[in-house]
Amino acid sequence: MNLTPARRYWLTGASNGIGAALAEELLKSGAHVALSSRFREPLEQFAQQYPGQVLVMAGDLTNSQTVREIGEQIAQAWGALDTVILNAGTCEYVDAKQFDSSIIECVARTNLLASSYCIEAALPLLRPGRTPHLVGIASAVTYLPMPLTESKASLRHLFESLRADQSSKNMDITVVSPGFVDTPLTEDNDFPMPLNWSAHKAARHIVAKLQGRPSEIAFPALSLAVLWPLPTLPATPQQPLDKHMLRNPPPRKNDL
Ligand SMILES: NC(=O)c1ccc[n+]([C@@H]2O[C@H](COP(=O)([O-])OP(=O)(O)OC[C@H]3O[C@@H](n4cnc5c(N)ncnc54)[C@H](OP(=O)(O)O)[C@@H]3O)[C@@H](O)[C@H]2O)c1
Repeated sequence: MNLTPARRYWLTGASNGIGAALAEELLKSGAHVALSSRFREPLEQFAQQYPGQVLVMAGDLTNSQTVREIGEQIAQAWGALDTVILNAGTCEYVDAKQFDSSIIECVARTNLLASSYCIEAALPLLRPGRTPHLVGIASAVTYLPMPLTESKASLRHLFESLRADQSSKNMDITVVSPGFVDTPLTEDNDFPMPLNWSAHKAARHIVAKLQGRPSEIAFPALSLAVLWPLPTLPATPQQPLDKHMLRNPPPRKNDL
């Protein structure tokens, strides 16, 4: 008989894509998981499928008050968290030819500010947790500033600063850097997405690697090997990539 208590997770962005696949992997393993996203229905479906394992914590994570309330509800239900996976995020491409700062504002609100609200709510719950682990889903683009890129570099920097600060405090911090993954986020991309993985393959890979609590999980392995050295080279290797990444039409202000 297994007497080890179930690990308590908070997973954001669980309604779709990589997050939904991660939720399934974690719940199948018997973990208890607080699930967040704006849309409640997919989270309710997990709660029905895995009774007693799910806390439905729906809400817009770009609202700091909502995130505080989610933290309070998790505290009331479980008292602590063992692993937090900040996966909720978005992606828009900024085209220098029609530079639009509102796109950057929108992306930063979701990818950086919402994550920082979640970290604020999560840290007091992780500290009393069992072998606490904070995980952030960044992106392989953080290795290489691309001409038309989403902004995840600041999220990486935030996690790495936190790791430096928390190093003596018994908390592991992992940055996950996926390459292309086939999800609703990437289905409108009209440029080639080399080496793209399914969401389930990505989730299985992340969950398996998290056991070892590495500082970095990057996939496919090739993306780390290829992208990491590129910023140190002259700009020319980036130009062929740029040519392939034209989006037609670019996102408009009113769509955001
Ligand atoms: N797919 C890729 O190729 C790829 C590559 C590198 C990195 N990533 C990163 O991986 C993560 C997951 O991406 P994905 O491809 O699985 O995207 P996705 O299918 O669009 O899923 C994004 C998730 O985030 C949630 N979310 C977005 N904004 C939110 C908000 N304001 N409040 C609460 N939840 C919010 C969405 O739920 P609701 O819409 O229900 O709120 C959804 O569950 C993202 O951080 C993304 O940047 C993806």
